[in-house]
Amino acid sequence: MTESAIQNVAVCGAGVFGLNHLRIYRALQQSGSPVRLAAIIETDVLRAGKLEQEWGVSVYRSVEACLADCRTGKLHLDAASVCVPTNGHFQAASAFLAAGIDVLVEKPLAASLEEATRLIELAEQHQRILQVGHLERFNPAVTATRGLLNGPMFFEAHRLSVFSPRSLDVDVVLDLMIHDLDIVLTLVQSPVSQVHAVGLPILSRKVDIANVRVEFESGCVANFTASRVSTERVRKLRFFQPHEYVSIDYARQDLLVINVAAKTALASAEAMAAGLSMQKPQIPQGEPLRLEIESFLECVRTRQRPEVSGEDGRAALELALKINAAIAEHSIRAGLDRYSS
Ligand SMILES: NC(=O)c1ccc[n+]([C@@H]2O[C@H](COP(=O)([O-])OP(=O)(O)OC[C@H]3O[C@@H](n4cnc5c(N)ncnc54)[C@H](O)[C@@H]3O)[C@@H](O)[C@H]2O)c1
Repeated sequence: MTESAIQNVAVCGAGVFGLNHLRIYRALQQSGSPVRLAAIIETDVLRAGKLEQEWGVSVYRSVEACLADCRTGKLHLDAASVCVPTNGHFQAASAFLAAGIDVLVEKPLAASLEEATRLIELAEQHQRILQVGHLERFNPAVTATRGLLNGPMFFEAHRLSVFSPRSLDVDVVLDLMIHDLDIVLTLVQSPVSQVHAVGLPILSRKVDIANVRVEFESGCVANFTASRVSTERVRKLRFFQPHEYVSIDYARQDLLVINVAAKTALASAEAMAAGLSMQKPQIPQGEPLRLEIESFLECVRTRQRPEVSGEDGRAALELALKINAAIAEHSIRAGLDRYSS
């Protein structure tokens, strides 16, 4: 393989999730994919100290230092994963894009719509790939639903996690619920007409648990529950469409489809039971993050539009911010703001 066919990548932010990106780039490199882990950027002194030995690549303490080496030709980068906390996404991603480097930025795309819009503009201006890390799009159970869609009208999403002191720079809507918002927006393909929401801070200073009802112009309704203070881990999305119920378990990567033949739908209980069919399609398992990174590298190679584009990331962020505004309004209406310090 020629040197120029190999994609040199960097991971910016080697915290809990950045380590997953590092693991996958390294695994792809070791399995013969044309990719090379070329650099890590990590601001934490203690963490940075151990990374060089562990990963055998140059470790930089800032994006600027890394890009300075790119300018002098000491380092060559084609692409970078941005895995710093959300509040730092814009600064890191914009610097890479402006330097001509393709970017996979973790979800949510940015901390504000203005930043998200600016990132999309920068990617366009510099003709760069900008992909957003909504990894559930690559979950095999989600991709298997593509051929099943037939005008879904009602969604129920549950995403519950046990508390961990991570991602506390954002609330549970931007931390967890945004995964389901992105999936439902993709499946519904209709503008949002109304948002009703309630959310409460429980263990952190930001909203830790939220329940939301979103209505779409098509008439579809979606209920979302997300919690990061649960006693169990749940990752489920269920939807109903004419004569059909589809249940996705993101964690188990399985799919259950129950349908009732149209002509038996209004018949007697016996006829309905006889007309029911239940299927559990065989789904080849795969790690969503690996599939996401492989898809990103393919876009870097072919210059195709990414599966999860900057615009998709912006749309999910826009809905998440609307939900947060509805939560704030509800909190004032219900007098809950008197409990916040
Ligand atoms: N796709 C998913 O399912 C998923 C899951 C978890 C986290 N995430 C996202 O990944 C991102 C990181 O989350 P995390 O849980 O790994 O956080 P973390 O706090 O564990 O790690 C962040 C790391 O970035 C470093 N850092 C901060 N600013 C930096 C900068 N300017 N340059 C270089 N390094 C910097 C920190 O020192 C830390 O090591 C967040 O955006 C989060 O939303 C995505």
